[in-house]
Amino acid sequence: MWGGRFAEGPDAIMQAINASIGFDRRLYAQDIAGSRAHAAMLAAQGILTDSDAQSIREGLLTVLSEIEAGQFPFRVELEDIHLNVESRLTEIIGEAGKRLHTGRSRNDQVAVDFRLWVRDQCDAAISGLTALMRAFVAQAEAGADWVMPGFTHLQTAQPVTWGHHMMAYVEMLARDRSRFADARARMNECPLGAAALAGTSFPIDRHRTAAELGFDRPTANSLDSVADRDFALEFLSAAAICAMHLSRFAEELVIWSSAQFRFVRLSDRWTTGSSIMPQKKNPDAAELLRAKLGRILGANVALFTVMKGLPLTYSKDMQEDKEQVFDAADSLMLALAAMTGMVGDMTANREVLAAAAGAGFSTATDLADWLVRALGLPFREAHHVTGALVALAEAKGCDLDELSLSEMTSVHPGITQEVYSVLGVENSVRSRMSYGGTAPDRVREQVARWKTLLG
Ligand code: ARG
Repeated sequence: MWGGRFAEGPDAIMQAINASIGFDRRLYAQDIAGSRAHAAMLAAQGILTDSDAQSIREGLLTVLSEIEAGQFPFRVELEDIHLNVESRLTEIIGEAGKRLHTGRSRNDQVAVDFRLWVRDQCDAAISGLTALMRAFVAQAEAGADWVMPGFTHLQTAQPVTWGHHMMAYVEMLARDRSRFADARARMNECPLGAAALAGTSFPIDRHRTAAELGFDRPTANSLDSVADRDFALEFLSAAAICAMHLSRFAEELVIWSSAQFRFVRLSDRWTTGSSIMPQKKNPDAAELLRAKLGRILGANVALFTVMKGLPLTYSKDMQEDKEQVFDAADSLMLALAAMTGMVGDMTANREVLAAAAGAGFSTATDLADWLVRALGLPFREAHHVTGALVALAEAKGCDLDELSLSEMTSVHPGITQEVYSVLGVENSVRSRMSYGGTAPDRVREQVARWKTLLG
């Protein structure tokens, strides 16, 4: 492609380090779409003849079908997908193929190809997230009023509802969805036509190619166009936050499915057995989901490190962007699909959840609140009295509602029989009616809201 200036071919190791065709072949569809838009624009502007544009269009379709049929002769000496496609096109259609690269460079070509690819991945992430949100909403709807312990510090804090816990993930995933949508909107500008870095002297129409490729507009600065990989970094950042959310629920599943907790039963479809211990049912999918953030965040750090301090504009360093993003995107899509399957299949163990909900003095806050309401104690004092009652119950090895009234009044004389009504977990969750609270009615409102939003 540039033989004019060179007397010798590259060293074999140079070829190995330089070539990207081993991985950037994944961009073939985007590369061909970009070339088709470019050729059509060149013809519309009178830069190419209609007949050249016509044979380029047909030739590119042939190349596309060869690649999709697995019959394309990829050549490592042609470095990357861009040169492979162009060279094969020229083999097929002759002279006209050599005119395609007018007013364009591989620098803007790779920028547009990769943006198109990452844009598709944003769409895939959004639909994967939507499916997962639906699975969580279905769990929440089934168990809007099932009580379970809510935790802070992984210590029993207050009773909550299963539905409320499930809906917490819907909120997180909704933020993830909007991050991908934001990133998509911001990346939706077309760098094609920036050429190598400075623009071109040919009378190209960048608005036309931008529109044809579904972009909102062309990018405004040619230097920025070929130097920018923010779109990839934003995708990786949104992916990392999303994977962090998945890892948190994965961790909960690992804990909850243990013999010590038994909060949930994972289906056979999402677990594995042990080759030696016959009783085992291991939450492998959850564990792998917990780990995926490692890879995805790793990709993010890798690309930041590649981009850091690169002078404008394009440097070959930037070829190191693709494998990271490919791997992170593959990992994320697989993780979303696996989590959706697992959440859809898991069964909450309602009785165990209910028993655990009442353990660990989980209604102590309700007791303190009652002292404030019924006896007019300042909250700090009510907190102190309740603490003394918990200590008494702990010393006796019983729960709060198993203390007798005289034991209660020995700590505070004003306590009456009525106190026992607030010590039950059902009453406790029902009373948490503040907006966003765990009361089953509140949860049902959120379920209804999300069912409408998710369609
Ligand atoms: N394979 C290259 C990449 O992925 C394409 C752009 C190459 N441009 C260049 N001037 N060498 O970044």
